[in-house]
Amino acid sequence: MNGLQIIKSSESIKKINSIGSSYELKVLDDNMEIMLLNLKSDAIIICQPYECNNAINYYYIISGLLEYHKDKTLVRPGDSISAKDITESAFFKAIEDTKVLWAVSKSIFKDINFEREKVEKLLKDIQEKDHYTQQHCKRVARLASEIARRVSLTDNQIVHTINAATCHDVGKMNVSIDILNKPSSLTDEEYEIIKSHAMDGFEVINSEFDNNVAKIVAQHHERLDGKGYPYGLSGDEIMIEAKIIAVADSYDAMIIDRPYRMAMKPIDALKELKKCIGTHYEKEIVDVFEEYLIEEGIINPLYDNKR
Ligand SMILES: [Fe+2]
Repeated sequence: MNGLQIIKSSESIKKINSIGSSYELKVLDDNMEIMLLNLKSDAIIICQPYECNNAINYYYIISGLLEYHKDKTLVRPGDSISAKDITESAFFKAIEDTKVLWAVSKSIFKDINFEREKVEKLLKDIQEKDHYTQQHCKRVARLASEIARRVSLTDNQIVHTINAATCHDVGKMNVSIDILNKPSSLTDEEYEIIKSHAMDGFEVINSEFDNNVAKIVAQHHERLDGKGYPYGLSGDEIMIEAKIIAVADSYDAMIIDRPYRMAMKPIDALKELKKCIGTHYEKEIVDVFEEYLIEEGIINPLYDNKR
């Protein structure tokens, strides 16, 4: 049976894991790659122009549900997506755990492999140190991607925002777990140690990723009024991607229980963000984030405002 091969479900040429999802390369040929994507709910597929130049990019939905970010079209099992010579990136979000067969008529798996494995390795390094920080980074990446898709960023900026958010606290690997989880307030000296995570993160990411991703990580604790760290940048000096991560980061930190305080309700966390518009956060970003929370039913303005 020359040339014929039966590939069992457990077999793949290469498998990579990425933030709970996995990509399995099933068939590889000079001009064709076929992959099986096992996407976790909330995972995002980004269909990028470079993948589609002079190539057919085809996604077939086996199970689950995808949503197209522009007009919220739902892509269901049996539906498919075809992209050829597109000029802008298209984002599809998994609404539930979703299986997709992805065929592309050029070699791209090694690129995905490379990027995803780097992110995954960094997340593993964070988890070994501190499980909370790893989960926090994943949640912030999800929230930041939702904001990034709603403000006018370029394709590259959106991808950089997601990658930077996923690794934004990687510098905390250098901070002792006792300081990270201290139930009482920090001394000045301990606070200085915590603050060093922004520049430490820059160093780690700069050696692994695009320099822009590293710069965003460095700036995620800057404030609009110039009172943030590490540089004390203000206003337009701060990258928009870092401003987005700052909002997502603060919100997530407020709604999760920590050893030193109880979790806040989403509506109360949003009120805190709004109080800090102009000093810490940009109004447009907080407004867009509020729209997202309403759309997702996380807050309900009719009910919440009467409390
Ligand atoms: Fe941070």
